[in-house]
Amino acid sequence: MLWLTGLSGAGKSTLSHALRDTLAAERPVEILDGDEVRTYLSAGLGFSKEDRDTNVRRIGFVARLLARTGAAAVTAAISPYAATREEVRSLAERDGVPFVEVFVSAPVATLAERDVKGLYRKALAGELTRFTGVSDPYEPPARPDVVVRTDVETVEESARRILDHLRGRGLLRGAAAGTAEVAAS
Ligand code: ADX
Repeated sequence: MLWLTGLSGAGKSTLSHALRDTLAAERPVEILDGDEVRTYLSAGLGFSKEDRDTNVRRIGFVARLLARTGAAAVTAAISPYAATREEVRSLAERDGVPFVEVFVSAPVATLAERDVKGLYRKALAGELTRFTGVSDPYEPPARPDVVVRTDVETVEESARRILDHLRGRGLLRGAAAGTAEVAAS
């Protein structure tokens, strides 16, 4: 189970899709994306602490079922509360499912500047309440397995660092990205 956590717009979805092909070479891959989950699995939930925790527990539950069958479950939800992420981790590990926590990190100022969905502008203007990083908490992981800095790294660099970590843990066998190109050149 590859758990991407970070602020809205930090690049969790983009990264999950960038990882897909490499992971899929070895096992089936399913991506549980925050926005999609909120459409299909968590419709009706809002952004209170209780609702976010329910959302994250549901994602954790589905990811665990997938991972138990041998699939790579990649999650891309803000998952702002450290204790809830830890709860998901311990349930996964209890089932023998490795849990890899990736902190997808970028400063709020950078995300507010990019503001792909226009939500930071609304949140900063007070038109959207309880917006993570602006008017609602985000608890960064204290000991993430990987930290990627999406404000300074390219998507490819961040993806490669995650894949390298998985190889180091023995969770991915394939050769490092770029090896084939280097060998061929
Ligand atoms: S989580 O906190 O429950 O993990 P999740 O990742 O599912 O959040 O959903 C976050 C997405 O919902 C954001 O990327 C954004 O598009 C949207 N969103 C709408 N309102 C908020 C809000 N108040 N805080 C954070 N995200 C919000």
